[in-house]
Amino acid sequence: MARALVVYRSHSGVTRHYGEEIAAFLETKGVSAKVVSVGECDMAGLSGVDYLFLGCWTSGLLIIRQHPDEPWLAFAREMPKLPSAFEGGPKVALFTTYKLATGSQFPRMRAAIAGKTSPPELELRSKDGMLSPKDDEALDLFIR
Ligand SMILES: Cc1cc2nc3c(=O)[nH]c(=O)nc-3n(C[C@H](O)[C@H](O)[C@H](O)COP(=O)(O)O)c2cc1C
Repeated sequence: MARALVVYRSHSGVTRHYGEEIAAFLETKGVSAKVVSVGECDMAGLSGVDYLFLGCWTSGLLIIRQHPDEPWLAFAREMPKLPSAFEGGPKVALFTTYKLATGSQFPRMRAAIAGKTSPPELELRSKDGMLSPKDDEALDLFIR
């Protein structure tokens, strides 16, 4: 059975809920999925999963200068270098929640993990922490 780990950083709970939605969807597709906060994440277990979802809420000046917050950036700094998907390491996806615009959020998340994982192949975003039908489709393709 394929395994997924969903690691989130959430300030007020919306991103946690989005992570839980992602995991629940994966379970319906036969992927075993675990959800943990950045603070709970066991770094040693990261390389053993097939799919790694990294999520953080969007902070910034609403329409400019969006970035992951410091606890997420600290997590990214501490994260070990993982084998690439080609070498048997996880395929990586990013997710975020926001109110107006994600702007530089995903580029900043990508920059923080550059060289440590395979380049993320999926970016999911939500204003309300719910999976949209488009998200379902994208997830379906991602785990194929
Ligand atoms: C201090 C602060 C800054 C924010 N900056 C942005 C922003 O730049 N762009 C945006 O679209 N939403 C912004 N938001 C909205 C949050 O990204 C949004 O409410 C998110 O869903 C919160 O996720 P959480 O409940 O997981 O913490 C900001 C919220 C706060 C509290």
